[in-house]
Amino acid sequence: MGSSIDIRLETLTGPRAGAAGSPRNGKAFFIETFGCQMNVHDSEKVAGVLLARGYQQVDQPDDADVVFFNTCSIREKAAQKVFSRLGKFRPGHAPEKVIGVLGCVAQQEGEEIFERAPWVSLVCGSASYRKLPDLLAQIEAGNRRVMGLDLDVDETFETELTRRDNPFRAYLTIIEGCDKACTYCVVPFTRGPERSRSSHAILEEVRQLVDFGYTEVQLLGQTVNSYRDPSPGRMTFAELLVAVAQVPGIRRVRFTTSHPRDFQPEIVQAIDAFPAICNHVHLPVQSGSTRVLAAMQRTYTREQYLEIIALIRGAKRPISITTDLIVGFPGETQADFEETLSLLDVAQFDGAFSFKFSPRPNTPAQHMEDSIPEEEKGRRLAVVQEKQRRIQLARHEALAGKTFEVLVDGRSSRADQWAGRTCCNRVLNFASPGANLLGQYVHVKVNRAGPNSLVGEHVT
Ligand code: 5AD
Ligand code: SF4
Repeated sequence: MGSSIDIRLETLTGPRAGAAGSPRNGKAFFIETFGCQMNVHDSEKVAGVLLARGYQQVDQPDDADVVFFNTCSIREKAAQKVFSRLGKFRPGHAPEKVIGVLGCVAQQEGEEIFERAPWVSLVCGSASYRKLPDLLAQIEAGNRRVMGLDLDVDETFETELTRRDNPFRAYLTIIEGCDKACTYCVVPFTRGPERSRSSHAILEEVRQLVDFGYTEVQLLGQTVNSYRDPSPGRMTFAELLVAVAQVPGIRRVRFTTSHPRDFQPEIVQAIDAFPAICNHVHLPVQSGSTRVLAAMQRTYTREQYLEIIALIRGAKRPISITTDLIVGFPGETQADFEETLSLLDVAQFDGAFSFKFSPRPNTPAQHMEDSIPEEEKGRRLAVVQEKQRRIQLARHEALAGKTFEVLVDGRSSRADQWAGRTCCNRVLNFASPGANLLGQYVHVKVNRAGPNSLVGEHVT
């Protein structure tokens, strides 16, 4: 049994290494994660690499010798938040520690981080995390500032050391980076070009995850359905979904994020044919106006997007669809904005994340005239969110009386209730006396609906 197995079993069965009360025999690190699921999973990889080298993970920065921030720079606010957190660790404000900045802000700002926050001594992007022990050793040897920012080295798929935090859902990166060139987006710059992991290695890891007790996996990629298998099997993304779903012991396969350009009808066919493939597609539309979509370089029109929605809605299983939206993109007129509103009516999304456009460094949209005042962006955002809230409420109300299987993954904010997720990714809270249901699949009948979750009762 190798050390990686010990590490992961520990996640499933007991407290984390270095948590309060555990013996501390090495240096301790703390990691705070900002941003998307890819970042959450990257932090699991960082933790695994360091634990394997004798470091201990702690839950409080005060207990750590090394404090990492795994950062997000998708919008300016996210990046600002990182610098405000860093400010709390300025010398004189807190006991001195090694401070490291990881992730997208690290990749984006590089050396400038040392200028803005001179108490930072390590800056490292997502393709270089396996170098972290060496970078920390260089600091111990007296180097004041160390960096790992190469994007061409790619060891991100060597995941045998990953130390997963979530005991119920295992994240698995199948494709890194992004080759699309959406004019507002930093990701191609911060995560580099698309690199897919071989289907052989993915399936091998899924089998291991089942051995560790996982029944649900989530395949991750910025554009997950742009997956191109580099191994001789040359599986398509839909074939990979089917192969993962057929691994004995796997009950749920999720995948995110899908890009409309590469959305193959075979994905819908696979969902229809294999109940283990979750009936949920996250398919960012960004705007309902073809004119704005062209300026964003999304490579599809409103009509083409709606054709995909019709395809998904035509499936035998009801598939929930969620999306991302940007309001106030440079040049977005009131008429363009109204097209986004009307698209919400037609598409009937089950969920939407909506954002005000934020100009980002190194992106083409940074140089477009950001002509829409902040106030107007805020107004548009509120209108979009209110409209979507009503749509979601109506869609949820239509589920009253139906029974869903949920995987119980926590307590709801109301302490007397359990929280679980349906296969279609809805949160369903329910009361159930007695036994601990964490990690179990149970059937729950929906009694009440809110815009963001459902409330029901456990049925046996
Ligand atoms: N401004 C606002 N929102 C953005 N997103 C990406 N870049 C920007 C930006 N510059 C949003 C998109 C994407 C989601 C992850 O973040 O909607 O799908
Ligand atoms: Fe960014 Fe577009 Fe790539 Fe998504 S598809 S990560 S929005 S560039």
